[in-house]
Amino acid sequence: MKGDYGTFMQKEIFEQPESVFNTMRGRLDFETESLRLGGIQANVVAIRRAKRILFIACGTSHHSALAVRALFEEAWEKPVFVEIASDFIDRKPPIFRDDVCVFISQSGETADTLNALRYCKDHDALCIGVVNAVGSCIARETHCGVHLNAGPEISVASTKAFTSQVVALTMIALLVGQSLALFQDRSRAIIKDLHMLPDIIRKVLAMNEQILTIAKECSKQQSILLLGRGGQYAAVLEGALKIKELAYIHAEGIHAGDVKYGPMALVNQARCIIFLALRDSHFNRTKAALAQIADCGAKPVVLCSIGDRAELSPFASSVLELPIVDEALQSVTSVIALQLLAFHIGVLRDNAVDTPRNLAKSVTVE
Ligand code: UD1
Ligand code: BG6
Repeated sequence: MKGDYGTFMQKEIFEQPESVFNTMRGRLDFETESLRLGGIQANVVAIRRAKRILFIACGTSHHSALAVRALFEEAWEKPVFVEIASDFIDRKPPIFRDDVCVFISQSGETADTLNALRYCKDHDALCIGVVNAVGSCIARETHCGVHLNAGPEISVASTKAFTSQVVALTMIALLVGQSLALFQDRSRAIIKDLHMLPDIIRKVLAMNEQILTIAKECSKQQSILLLGRGGQYAAVLEGALKIKELAYIHAEGIHAGDVKYGPMALVNQARCIIFLALRDSHFNRTKAALAQIADCGAKPVVLCSIGDRAELSPFASSVLELPIVDEALQSVTSVIALQLLAFHIGVLRDNAVDTPRNLAKSVTVE
């Protein structure tokens, strides 16, 4: 049921304060700061002992893995890989019994992800699912896992699954990091912000009208570049995917550090650019990249953290200030802003946002 909303997509975007809360419900006790993921608790020691973690997924689910990679590296201090399932299947890389392979999927039915799971199982790796659909193939075939509990996602383009995936994966990282003394302060800070996350998301959703104004400008474009680094790299890939799916506009997410190695040739005064410059440990380098594209004549729309408007305005055509949240969770706030942007552009262009052309909700063929 769409309730008061015109589309499932809009409903699913706006229910994210509740869906992320449901991902944490009964698992994270904010008072005692204790965390228990019933689905993987028995395997936490095995995960900590593993040599590598590989995240394998498609589309939006692949982007959520990219969004949490740095946190796993920090919490676990071992190699972490993020794989596109179809590319993984093409290569059939070496997989060992002391690997942990994490399969992320909203539907739990995506054929490429499922094939990768069967391959890793054949190679005796510990296979973990992070899946929304209970009873789906990936949920059944993994050794253990964590359900997202985000509720059904109807709109073809994935929205609330992304934010719940980031939250579920963040909780797994916190569990894994419990054995690392150096990680404990950081873990406490992240738990504090997970507690605040529903309210933080409500603040982003309250920016809907501001985002609609930006969407009106973007809807006339033929191509949009989105730039970001750190956790915001995953966010620009996801934002570009949403714009392609809903607006049918060419959109490309580019690492802000990589723009000088070629994409800079595309940058000029007329080019529509969305630049994610949130306050994180990469902020100075992000600002340098923003200044470089401004030198080439670009005037991007800048998404930044509250308090940074004055500093970044000289480089921007407009600035959108997002609420402050721990760096580990920043992709949640920026992706929700980009979901709204893509949604509005799609509606302004009269597209069927719930059922984009040529796309299916679950892709059950290779
Ligand atoms: C489970 C119950 C929940 C109940 C809670 C009470 C289900 C689906 N969940 O939640 O209703 O309130 O106990 O303690 O009945 N799994 C996989 N692969 C996946 C996802 C999950 O194998 O991709 C497995 C898990 O290892 C676990 C089971 O499915 O054995 C349920 O997982 P999950 O719902 O995440 O567990 P709980 O949060 O403990
Ligand atoms: C399809 C959907 O392409 O599959 C995307 O349209 C989704 O929104 C992708 O991200 C992967 O799906 P899943 O169910 O494995 O997360």
